[in-house]
Amino acid sequence: MTTFWNWYVTILSLGTIFALTWLIFGTRKGQRQESTEETVGHVFDGIEEYDNPLPKWWFMLFIGTIIFALGYLVLYPGLGNWKGLLPGYDYLDNEAKTPFAANVQIADGEQRNAGWTGVHQWEKEMAKADAQYGPIFAKYAAMPIEQVAQDEQALKMGGRLFASNCSVCHGSDAKGAYGFPNLTDNDWLYGGAAETIKTTIMGGRQAAMPAWKDSLGEEGIKNVAGYVRSLSGLKTPESVEVDLAAGQQTFAANCAVCHGPDAKGQQAMGAPNLTDKTWLYGSSFAQVQQTLRYGRNGRMPSQEAFLGNDKVHLLAAYVYSLSQKPAQQ
Ligand code: HEC
Ligand code: HEC
Repeated sequence: MTTFWNWYVTILSLGTIFALTWLIFGTRKGQRQESTEETVGHVFDGIEEYDNPLPKWWFMLFIGTIIFALGYLVLYPGLGNWKGLLPGYDYLDNEAKTPFAANVQIADGEQRNAGWTGVHQWEKEMAKADAQYGPIFAKYAAMPIEQVAQDEQALKMGGRLFASNCSVCHGSDAKGAYGFPNLTDNDWLYGGAAETIKTTIMGGRQAAMPAWKDSLGEEGIKNVAGYVRSLSGLKTPESVEVDLAAGQQTFAANCAVCHGPDAKGQQAMGAPNLTDKTWLYGSSFAQVQQTLRYGRNGRMPSQEAFLGNDKVHLLAAYVYSLSQKPAQQ
């Protein structure tokens, strides 16, 4: 913060506190001590006010909030360059215990007593958790994923990691949603082998389905959309006329490189199988045309830097286990 804002915040905070203190004590002077039947004399809409002293409990509560505010300002950073009395994060002692230590750049000599901040406190707690759970993660990381996927405790931990890191996109039941693949159905964009799943989670994935509106035109898109949908038995709405043979030609010339000549997909590039009943972006004639017009670029974010190898290993085992169960109806 600049000096101006430092002073602005300081004067505003302390000024308000002192003004309120003055107000509460100032108005107390000359007030009667006992309650009374007398009123202060004015009437609003028939409502009158007793001339009573402030209730004691209310007065004490008010004083309490003032003391709390002052205590808070002393303990925590906030006013000017004041760092607060709470101890900062001890970087030297915790170095390398947290995956984020490397990201925290503090000049030599400043390493100790860097002051309290929410980030420092969080790092401290993370370091503690890592020290506590690190060995358990490490134990599983040394085992093959397929084997970890048999371990009940590991799956519980993986499930919790999934809930907090993955369910926003893939759903808490991992069944996915529009644009986010179902991870329980044994139908894979990039492959369902245990190690492949881990690679996906570690490095992330970026799908690249090109847009065709310029090269194929509306007519071309309509035909190839009709053809692609016919591969999984979907009929084109009767109100629309499509030339399936032309669509098939367009497919062979433009789409087979990625989706394969049989349209069964290619996991190396995440090009989905177009002959099954699984649709990431919807199967209606309108939705498929939309996919073709503008392309699709689904992105699975890389977890390597954020979660690290050991947690991703557990997650891979958890995801792997989801599709190993007998199919549920
Ligand atoms: C460069 C490779 C590439 C080419 C060429 C390509 N696709 Fe794709 N296609 C992809 C990828 C990758 C995806 C997955 C996109 C995603 O996950 O976001 C995809 C997705 C799709 C989908 C969505 C499937 C779903 O489940 O919702 C359809 C439909 C489709 N492509 C049809 C075609 C057609 C028809 C052509 C030819 C006109 C074509 N693609 C050409 C790579 C390609
Ligand atoms: C920001 C949203 C988002 C988050 C968070 C996310 N994913 Fe994904 N994930 C995606 C998308 C989108 C795809 C599909 C990419 C594509 O279209 O090619 C995907 C694909 C995948 C795949 C590949 C599926 C297949 O069919 O090959 C796996 C496995 C996966 N995610 C697991 C995870 C796990 C485990 C986590 C938690 C660590 C996670 N994802 C977090 C968006 C997300």
